[in-house]
Amino acid sequence: MSSSGCGNLGRALCIITGASRGFGRSTARDVSRLVKPGSVLVLVARSGDDLQALQAELAESEAGRAGVVVRRVVADLGRMEGLEAVLRTSKEAFTEDIDHVILVNNAASLGDVSRYSKNFTNMAEVDSYLSLNVSSSLCLTASVLQAFPQRSGLKRTVINISSLCALQPFRSWVLYCTGKAARDMMFRVLAEEEPDLRVLNYSPGPLDTAMQAEARSITADPKIKQSFSDMFAQGQLLTCEESSAKLMKLLLEDKYTSGAHIDIYDV
Ligand SMILES: NC(=O)c1ccc[n+]([C@@H]2O[C@H](COP(=O)([O-])OP(=O)(O)OC[C@H]3O[C@@H](n4cnc5c(N)ncnc54)[C@H](OP(=O)(O)O)[C@@H]3O)[C@@H](O)[C@H]2O)c1
Repeated sequence: MSSSGCGNLGRALCIITGASRGFGRSTARDVSRLVKPGSVLVLVARSGDDLQALQAELAESEAGRAGVVVRRVVADLGRMEGLEAVLRTSKEAFTEDIDHVILVNNAASLGDVSRYSKNFTNMAEVDSYLSLNVSSSLCLTASVLQAFPQRSGLKRTVINISSLCALQPFRSWVLYCTGKAARDMMFRVLAEEEPDLRVLNYSPGPLDTAMQAEARSITADPKIKQSFSDMFAQGQLLTCEESSAKLMKLLLEDKYTSGAHIDIYDV
């Protein structure tokens, strides 16, 4: 049965990477409230304690009491074994009555923003960044699509947590901007290739998270650094809760063009 436009996300298997804190954690909380009993959330990150705390919180919540199950995968997504662990758990968790597979590619790192492009001479360093931030999201998405192929009655939604940096260059943010631009294009290609899929590049806005704190403390470019400090000082950062609520609105309405890049300020 289709879950679109009916106020919930269906009986879902929802995989969320980077669920231990920040935007991923808020998204996990929101999704748990919007799926039907019998749904499973697969939460992925390296910090086992934080994932365990979130799992316990959700088990105690109304969703948990209503039968939404949470599985955690403690894994480094920069490594193939990490991806394999996510796949293993997701396949184990899948049941025949699941009618919606949702993958939220949220995990990311900022990379070293304390240096300008001309300082990146070490190929291994760049490869390592791209491995986590680009390769892992393509390979995880492809693996999930293969594990849960198209069939009637099964909806499949793939979300890329994007950024303004996918569209605009930020001085001293070469790794991050490159990774986000590549990810957006990856998901645009996927949307062209797989018309049955729902593909969304969601740009969540400037969020008050650990990644933002890192950005305003170590960014090399003085103007960019100042603009992040100003946003923080002037209370212009958004909470993860408000941004995640906008993502949920997009998913529930389900009217976006597959492959589109949608910014929180346009929702
Ligand atoms: N914050 C912003 O202003 C902002 C703006 C635009 C877009 N975004 C995007 O929004 C998403 C969430 O950002 P955030 O601000 O919530 O970041 P965050 O607070 O730094 O959280 C990042 C998450 O990714 C996980 N992660 C990082 N490296 C990982 C690895 N190697 N393996 C597995 N998990 C890993 C982290 O968990 P562990 O450390 O436990 O592994 C954490 O749960 C990212 O895609 C980011 O690029 C953020």
